[in-house]
Amino acid sequence: MVLPTASQVTAEAISPNQQLLPLTAHINDSNHLEVGGCDVVDLVEQFGSPLYILDETTLRTAAAQYRDSFRTYYPGPSQVIYASKAWSCLAVCALVNSEGLGIDVVSAGELYTALEAGVSPEVIYFHGNNKSQSELEYALQVGCVVVVDNQLELETLAALAQGQEQRPRVMIRVTPGIECHTHEYIRTGHLDSKFGFDPNQLLSVFEYLSQAPQLQFLGLHAHIGSQIFELEPHQDLGRVLTEWLAKAASYGLEVSELNIGGGLGIRYVESDDPPSIAQWVQIVSAGVVAGCEAAGVALPKLLSEPGRSLVGPACITAYRVGSRKTVPGIRTYIAVDGGMSDNPRPITYQSRYQALLANRMRGTASTTVTIAGKHCESGDILIRDIELSDPQSGDVLVVPGTGAYNYSMASNYNRVPRPAAVLVNAGEASLILRRETQADLLRQDVLPERLRG
Ligand code: LLP
Repeated sequence: MVLPTASQVTAEAISPNQQLLPLTAHINDSNHLEVGGCDVVDLVEQFGSPLYILDETTLRTAAAQYRDSFRTYYPGPSQVIYASKAWSCLAVCALVNSEGLGIDVVSAGELYTALEAGVSPEVIYFHGNNKSQSELEYALQVGCVVVVDNQLELETLAALAQGQEQRPRVMIRVTPGIECHTHEYIRTGHLDSKFGFDPNQLLSVFEYLSQAPQLQFLGLHAHIGSQIFELEPHQDLGRVLTEWLAKAASYGLEVSELNIGGGLGIRYVESDDPPSIAQWVQIVSAGVVAGCEAAGVALPKLLSEPGRSLVGPACITAYRVGSRKTVPGIRTYIAVDGGMSDNPRPITYQSRYQALLANRMRGTASTTVTIAGKHCESGDILIRDIELSDPQSGDVLVVPGTGAYNYSMASNYNRVPRPAAVLVNAGEASLILRRETQADLLRQDVLPERLRG
């Protein structure tokens, strides 16, 4: 694994999503991995393992690159919104918000988290294909934007908004019919998707909105999928959406915003080669500008919703190596003290990851091993057939690229407590998520009196 040099670390031009390790990663004099100025082995000793280690510099750099690239490449106004489903917690929401980003939420829980982190509802966008009545009431009460997914929701909102002083701000999510190459479970833009209005419903939605003055229509939203390396689908998306903006305008609807979703992929293993954040923004912007010119509509405020490419590369997970099993002639399993409960992506999507030994950074990677989790499930394998420097019990094994969809999808499977997370910067580590305790595991348990021994 090639680490960036010290001079590269400070260079803004490095796109975090193209790196395997956080931008501040380097090998220190003890031959240990250091991130954010903190020795990873020391962090594990202090905070325990598994441990999510989030590098503030990398996250801020990615946020700033998105924000500034839109200012460079898009001639109209823009707003980057962090898709907090990637990692929703107070510190991450507050941090990206301090870089000027808004927050995309998909549940009352994520909305509550963003609000408690101090994010203004002005820049919170509420998604979801089945928001409950109480979630919609909550959204209207706090005044965030609602991205409407279906007719039931549109009618519920229109009814709730009757007689309200503030007109709720709404966007309409459309399934654009754009195919892209990614795992089937994380594709959303193709027509056969549970999300959003089908294009053939849109004209009747515009008609409905033109008769519903109690709703303030802002514009359209689409998201075509996640972990995408191709640029063409996003360019096409700009064109398709701007055609629909022109149609909305023909219903007398004033269109001010266009949200092209997220989806930019990141490098998980050496062979991954995603475009940079700046390239993605440039293509997306060009698509929207060209589409607006062709359709004869004014440039809307351009919103984007990155999740993975913002927070994914900024975090590593550190584990302690435990047992080892060699099946002669077949493989050697090295087990770590976490697994599918802190990173369900390999078992869910067959996602590939890289690893290294943080306490022996300059060792020669000459032993092929398979990294297994500790869960009672044969499929709980984090990495298959990776070359490492003969991992031993007690070593600190680090998996990079775990900032997105790891903590947010973590579970207590096998009643394993969820790990702690620390935010590292300039040699300081701040706890941002406490490690769950055994008592936390029983917090929701109720033992009926008649079952007490
Ligand atoms: N906007 C909407 C409406 C979305 O549904 C998503 C992701 C995003 C934005 C952010 O996309 P990103 O920039 O992160 O690609 N759990 C899966 C990923 C599911 C993505 C869901 N939607 C995984 O671990 O790969």
